[in-house]
Amino acid sequence: MSAVPPPGLTLPDVWYVAARSKTLRAAPLAVTIQGRPLVLFRGRDGVPAAFSDRCPHRNVPLSMGTVVKGELQCQYHGWRFDSKGACTAVPGLVDGEVSLRSRCAETFACVEQQGFVWVYTTPNVEASSRPFVFPHFDEAPYSSVVREFLVAASVHAVVENTLDVPHTAYLHGGLFRTAQKSNVIDVVVRRHGTFAEAEFIGEPAPKGLVGRLLAPGGGVTEHTDRFLLPSIAQVEYRLGTKSHLMATSALTPVTDTETRVFVVVTFKLPLPAWLVKPFVAPIAGQIFAQDAVMLKKQTEQVKRFGGERYTSTELDVLGPQVTRLMKQAAAKEAPPEGVDEHRLRMKT
Ligand code: FES
Ligand SMILES: [Fe+2]
Repeated sequence: MSAVPPPGLTLPDVWYVAARSKTLRAAPLAVTIQGRPLVLFRGRDGVPAAFSDRCPHRNVPLSMGTVVKGELQCQYHGWRFDSKGACTAVPGLVDGEVSLRSRCAETFACVEQQGFVWVYTTPNVEASSRPFVFPHFDEAPYSSVVREFLVAASVHAVVENTLDVPHTAYLHGGLFRTAQKSNVIDVVVRRHGTFAEAEFIGEPAPKGLVGRLLAPGGGVTEHTDRFLLPSIAQVEYRLGTKSHLMATSALTPVTDTETRVFVVVTFKLPLPAWLVKPFVAPIAGQIFAQDAVMLKKQTEQVKRFGGERYTSTELDVLGPQVTRLMKQAAAKEAPPEGVDEHRLRMKT
């Protein structure tokens, strides 16, 4: 039996995408991360801030309030909070200090970059790291397509699915792999303290529609799937110097069984981007829709049968590595140094 990720795994001191920048406008926005209700809003100069979605006064959701001159105003009694969480106004209070410590909102570090608003998972502290940077985003000659999905499954299940090769020929039959397995390829699995990856060596160019877009001339593909803590799942394809495609999913645990997936597909291809772009979004959409259905079923089954009872083969390459890394991060264990490598063979 494979290692099972503990339910309710909560990672401290990590960054998750809370929302796309374009979703956070003038009004406060309620989001949930790791089961915790948060409110995002844009303070002075539009810089985003994140609080617990609870007014310190009588605990109503601050997301019901409004943003007034870059401060968040509670809808109930009109208390106001600046981006640092300090109370700046208690309407009607004549005497006495307004900005008491006990009246501060609980705050979370917040960073906006590359069109995403990221939130740090530990409250009331300065972040000790920076959020993940999507490679080649907005960098010529690359183009990017961004999509967002809500999936009814845990982060672990979504990561494993995203980086799982054997299901593609079945669940996504025809899109990029066929069920006839004729090629034996080598897989190099690398384990590190903060990431795990599987490199597929000697894989022929993908078949189906995806293959025709990525590699119109066929050839041998460099393909690596990787997981980076806390929740980045990345599939990378390279074909010669002309084709390079990365589908990077930043996964946000909404609850133990719900994950918000922010997918960034970044590519350069021999075909011009304007020609390819109209295909990328629908194909990615179809793949994700098929995965979402299966992940929801999987989650329902685990619930119906009272827990996971998985059995695995060595083809389940990265799932156990992801479990190990997530457990380690949850326990705040110092990651081991160095990269551990092993090989296996797979028919694709
Ligand atoms: S509950 Fe927010 S001001 Fe009273
Ligand atoms: Fe899939």
